[in-house]
Amino acid sequence: MTEYRSVKSSQIVLKELMIPSYSNFGGKVHGGIILSLMDKIAYTAAASHSRSYCVTASVDSVNFLNPVEVGELVTLLASVNYVGRSSMEVGIKVFSEDFKKGVNKHTNTSYFTMVAVDEHTRKPAPVPGLILEEEIEVKRFIWGKFRKKYRGEYKEQFKTLRRNLDIACETALLHEENCKIATGK
Ligand SMILES: CC(C)(COP(=O)(O)OP(=O)(O)OC[C@H]1O[C@@H](n2cnc3c(N)ncnc32)[C@H](O)[C@@H]1OP(=O)(O)O)[C@@H](O)C(=O)NCCC(=O)NCCS
Repeated sequence: MTEYRSVKSSQIVLKELMIPSYSNFGGKVHGGIILSLMDKIAYTAAASHSRSYCVTASVDSVNFLNPVEVGELVTLLASVNYVGRSSMEVGIKVFSEDFKKGVNKHTNTSYFTMVAVDEHTRKPAPVPGLILEEEIEVKRFIWGKFRKKYRGEYKEQFKTLRRNLDIACETALLHEENCKIATGK
């Protein structure tokens, strides 16, 4: 595919008011509500860039930096940072705003890898390239390229580690951990 689209053409903002039914037992907004909004905006940005059906392949490091309260307005900003042949890394920044106090909190940043899929064959389909118009877009593309590289390397390293683990030796070390092995197992 020799088509290219700008980063800005698929950038998107989603705002949602946190209503009482979104709260958990502690009275704060359930993390799953925020994750669901993140998945929705990631899909929208990826589908808008690729103009194709997409699936979520992976989600990197969702660290909730601040709790979100009921009554706050959550704003999600999404941008396609990097594209490969069929995958797109969507960067998502989440803020939550307390109207009464006039406080805006950064609640988390995460990276979703979305893959364009052919609706008939269900196989990964090529996506347009990115036109990088600003210095920050070039930086984000490079950072995304390295995240993809390290994600792949981590997967391989963990596979090797799992294959080579001495389970008997590791089991003997479990007394240092916060667990106990039930007798008779
Ligand atoms: C994501 C999926 C389409 C990849 O299919 P696949 O046959 O493994 O495809 P490939 O190995 O050819 O990889 C295709 C692209 O996806 C990327 N990819 C595959 N698995 C990935 C993962 N776990 N994380 C990040 N990227 C991934 C590859 O790097 C590749 O990118 P590129 O084309 O830009 O180089 C397939 O695993 C799938 O359908 N998964 C289920 C997705 C889903 O249903 N999500 C919703 C869950 S509720």
